[in-house]
Amino acid sequence: MSKKIIIIGATSGIGEELARQCVEKEYLVAGTGRRIERLEALKKELGNYFHYSEMDVTDHESSKQQLHELIRQMGGMDIIVLNAGISNYQASSITSMEQMIVDVNVSGFVQLFGEAFKYFRQQGYGQIVGVSSIASLFGSSRAAPYSASKAFISTYMQAYRQRSNSMNHDITITDVKPGFVKSEMTEGKKGMFWVAETDKAVRQMLKDIEKKKSHSVVTRRWILVAWLLRLTPNWILDRL
Ligand SMILES: NC(=O)c1ccc[n+]([C@@H]2O[C@H](COP(=O)([O-])OP(=O)(O)OC[C@H]3O[C@@H](n4cnc5c(N)ncnc54)[C@H](OP(=O)(O)O)[C@@H]3O)[C@@H](O)[C@H]2O)c1
Repeated sequence: MSKKIIIIGATSGIGEELARQCVEKEYLVAGTGRRIERLEALKKELGNYFHYSEMDVTDHESSKQQLHELIRQMGGMDIIVLNAGISNYQASSITSMEQMIVDVNVSGFVQLFGEAFKYFRQQGYGQIVGVSSIASLFGSSRAAPYSASKAFISTYMQAYRQRSNSMNHDITITDVKPGFVKSEMTEGKKGMFWVAETDKAVRQMLKDIEKKKSHSVVTRRWILVAWLLRLTPNWILDRL
């Protein structure tokens, strides 16, 4: 039987490509996002293997309801990928931009994570994939709320992995840390290096999801950066 995967944030970039690659592998896929026209276009392209629902993760009650509606439409859920995220946002002030990043990347994530965890606990198995970032490994002066939001979700997933292990739940929690990947998020940004093609990064990510890894760094060369960052003393990180 086909695996059933729900991708939160499937209207562009990593999430959209993941939806395509999962359908190629004959998964039953559901995708969400605020841009309904993108979801309709994906439906036309992917056909019967694809379900969708308009969803804004900052609307907690409605997004939890949409999640359950998608589970109902697909007849179950084996994997959820919490991919929705923003790195900057047009806002009237820095404070409201920072608040929006926290609302989407942290609060939106926590709400759906909790709902999925409860569902998988009752089902007896499942996999939650959270898309964090290499940026979670250090504070970045140019992206303080973004790097902190990703550190939050990585730490959160580690804590839930411990909880799941101590209670003997068969729930895999996969923390994906991409380096730079081509997408709308990185379009036109300066100062990037080793920017990976989206399809390559997603192929590696999907391989790690299928292997039920607890940690995935994509693309592979970013493992070196992650390792170096972990070894770098704070007095150097404070001056980056
Ligand atoms: N690209 C990179 O270099 C990179 C590196 C590390 C980590 N990441 C992470 O990878 C994930 C995907 O990013 P991407 O690079 O593919 O960027 P992207 O093309 O901008 O995709 C972001 C996705 O998140 C969704 N989203 C944003 N705000 C939302 C909201 N309020 N409610 C529901 N969905 C929302 C977007 O859908 P709508 O706009 O339609 O709502 C879209 O589907 C993000 O979590 C990002 O932080 C990316």
